Amino acid sequence: MEALSLEFKVNGQKHKLSVAPNKRLLDVLREDLNLIGVKEGCSVGECGACTVIMDGKIVNSCMVLAGQAQNSEVLTVEGLEKEEGKLHPLQQAFLDAGAVQCGFCTPGMLMSSYNLLQANPDPDEEEIKDAITGNFCRCTGYKQIIDAIELAAERMNR
Ligand code: FES
Ligand code: FES
Repeated sequence: MEALSLEFKVNGQKHKLSVAPNKRLLDVLREDLNLIGVKEGCSVGECGACTVIMDGKIVNSCMVLAGQAQNSEVLTVEGLEKEEGKLHPLQQAFLDAGAVQCGFCTPGMLMSSYNLLQANPDPDEEEIKDAITGNFCRCTGYKQIIDAIELAAERMNR
């Protein structure tokens, strides 16, 4: 298969890579760009561990092929950090509310909740539940995650 010259922006940086067109976006991010915050859980679009934002929309990067990412803008959890070492308010709220246990679901949860707060800075509980419906967590029972998103929204709206 002929290699694809993939041009896209990730976390605000332009990239040009030669990849197989059927390589998954998940693998391009993890293997070619070393963005290992993006996690692989189910590999079939069910668990949300691999969630990133592509052109303003939540996608499961295990279900997106490199060719589909051509000329797109992708945001991963690494792109949430504002300055070196300074956590995004959502990341800080996840820590403060005890919403991170094993942490495997956390990058995907953060991307879904970031996308929610971009569109709706003051969501109610139902809207939060709806936004993270595609993200599975085996550890927390979701309560602390919902609390964290509410806390982040409160802090960001101050
Ligand atoms: S690894 Fe992509 S949705 Fe589970
Ligand atoms: S913190 Fe372990 S899967 Fe969510």
